[in-house]
Amino acid sequence: MILIATAGKVGSEAARLLTQHQVPVRVLVRDPKKGEELANAGVEIAVGDLDVPESIDEAMVGITALVLVSPAVPAQELNVIGSAARAGVEHVVKATNKASADSPIARRRGQTEIEAGLAASGLAYTLLRSNAYMQNTLLLGPVIAKRSSFGSSAGKGLAGMVDSRDVGAVAAEIAASPASHAGKTYWLSGPESISNYDVADVLSRLLGRTITYQELSFDEHKSAMVSAGLPEAIAEQNAQAFSLTAEGDAEWVSDDVQAILERKARSYEQFAADYAAAFS
Ligand SMILES: NC(=O)c1ccc[n+]([C@@H]2O[C@H](COP(=O)([O-])OP(=O)(O)OC[C@H]3O[C@@H](n4cnc5c(N)ncnc54)[C@H](OP(=O)(O)O)[C@@H]3O)[C@@H](O)[C@H]2O)c1
Repeated sequence: MILIATAGKVGSEAARLLTQHQVPVRVLVRDPKKGEELANAGVEIAVGDLDVPESIDEAMVGITALVLVSPAVPAQELNVIGSAARAGVEHVVKATNKASADSPIARRRGQTEIEAGLAASGLAYTLLRSNAYMQNTLLLGPVIAKRSSFGSSAGKGLAGMVDSRDVGAVAAEIAASPASHAGKTYWLSGPESISNYDVADVLSRLLGRTITYQELSFDEHKSAMVSAGLPEAIAEQNAQAFSLTAEGDAEWVSDDVQAILERKARSYEQFAADYAAAFS
């Protein structure tokens, strides 16, 4: 039985694919309503909270492989790692980012702390170090619908954005057959690095009207995200990440998705077509 730590973008796709392939899978959710769709698809649901170790221990019973994906609050993921070690889980697939201890971005430093805890646990594991998720651009849907325009502090920077459904598919594949992946780190990206000008072009073609991209300063972008409802700390970290993108930080692609899934990684065009309703 495979446990998936949360039912977010990556976790729910991994759960859906494993169930489709008749691999027994359990997903931890804190709100049973959020698990209803997966339960209807045949996924076992465990109700728990990553802040409550006892609830994680209950979800961990009978688990051989774990997909560790969550908002990556260090204390929470370290709870899950501790539970997995106590339960004798054989393999952990950990979703992470371009983590580093001296990153200016708090969530990257947090991922380093979690990765260190995983390494110290003695568990066998695989790291999925992903580029920015294409699904982040879904947050632009409302502003594009209203203004046919969007802005960012990413400047002209290129990013090898990856579809989070591909990250979920890679996690599912490795969790189902982990032997050859122990100790490896995969860098997950889409097929090409694109800028926000390219995103605007793709969306213009998709929607049949001109969508424009406007370069914003760090402060302009941060306050736009705060006005759109993001908590200040998240808006700050997002603006930091986009400013690094402007400097080339996300301009990387790899063949790892294709090598593991034996099919091409989804392109931004495919992603946008699949989510057209969200941009319309
Ligand atoms: N976004 C990117 O561009 C990007 C790029 C590289 C790596 N990553 C990594 O991807 C991971 C995030 O994955 P994701 O995008 O699939 O996440 P996501 O879609 O944001 O989903 C997070 C899930 O965690 C659940 N959750 C939050 N707090 C919880 C708690 N205390 N107990 C139980 N469940 C809880 C949420 O449930 P509720 O619905 O109840 O809140 C939600 O289902 C992070 O490790 C991040 O660093 C992201």
